[in-house]
Amino acid sequence: MKSKKKAMVSLKGRSLLKLSDLSDAEIVYLIDLAGRLKEMKRRRMQRNGLLRKNIAMIFEKPSTRTRSACTVAAVDEGGSVEYMDIHDLHLGKKESIRDSARVLGGMFDGIMFRGFKQETVETLARYSGIPVWNGLTDDSHPTQTLADLMTIRENFRKLRGLKVAYIGDGRNNVCISLMVGCLKSGIDFVDCTPRKLMPDLKVLRQVEAIAAAHDCSLQISHQPNLAVQNANVIYTDTWISMGEEKKLAERIKLLKPYQVTMKLMDATGNLKDRRVIFMHCLPALHNSETEVTRQTGALEVTDEVFEAPFSKVFEQSENRLHTIKAIMVATLSREELI
Ligand code: CP
Ligand code: NVA
Repeated sequence: MKSKKKAMVSLKGRSLLKLSDLSDAEIVYLIDLAGRLKEMKRRRMQRNGLLRKNIAMIFEKPSTRTRSACTVAAVDEGGSVEYMDIHDLHLGKKESIRDSARVLGGMFDGIMFRGFKQETVETLARYSGIPVWNGLTDDSHPTQTLADLMTIRENFRKLRGLKVAYIGDGRNNVCISLMVGCLKSGIDFVDCTPRKLMPDLKVLRQVEAIAAAHDCSLQISHQPNLAVQNANVIYTDTWISMGEEKKLAERIKLLKPYQVTMKLMDATGNLKDRRVIFMHCLPALHNSETEVTRQTGALEVTDEVFEAPFSKVFEQSENRLHTIKAIMVATLSREELI
């Protein structure tokens, strides 16, 4: 009788530039590894998976979670990090990205990059010769999606067969990566967004192909109340991504009907049976305690939903640590230390 062997996964030396770089098995592998690392941290087990590994963090945009997760993950595993604000670097100003990549590749073991253009993270990976991880670009937020999938699996004990409804800016980095990650995991996905904020045609063709290959459904909707029916996860993100601050007034007008409210959560039909959770990558504009919302009030989600027991946003943010750690360990560590 043939034995069913688990497919061998090795990510050693690899970069993570967008979610579709990962095979279905690699996604599962990273979530499993993150779960093991989470448990070991809970038990305060000493690990040295990144001993003597030096990690560069290049950030063109602000960050609370990704930056913290990267630092704590590396230190937990015995490695060290250097945080580099883009204003302190020559990168792309007095030195080409290609040249900086080759310099950094000669000194560091891995690079976490957050910035604007996807092309920058790809150039860093091509020329540095070391693993480069995308900590968010305008197009993509793959490390976020791994934490999201981990959180969904922790809450439902499975991924395949669930339904995720994303409500809001339907063509931003978080939405596109989440869509790819969900479809690759067998989760039905609805992107509920105004016509003006739909993903472009090229992206749509790609995700449709992923949905077809994974036997799950992908819908674009403009009707929040219908889109959320039977959903297990209601997910939203900011209406103004970093770099789009000038579009605030326009976005509020466009997206006000897409705000996640208690009524919308109830329209899933799953609230009473506790078969639905609320998720947000954060930061969220849900009360009047920020510079932006002192003027506008809550935007993408009401405070009531954000603070409800079914809101899993802080589980999600903690999982950023465990999943980023899993990525670093899997791509940099020796097999026996994984
Ligand atoms: N979700 C996320 O990427 O958060 P930060 O912008 O704080 O890193
Ligand atoms: N779409 C948001 C995500 C923030 C984590 C942005 O790019 O600003």
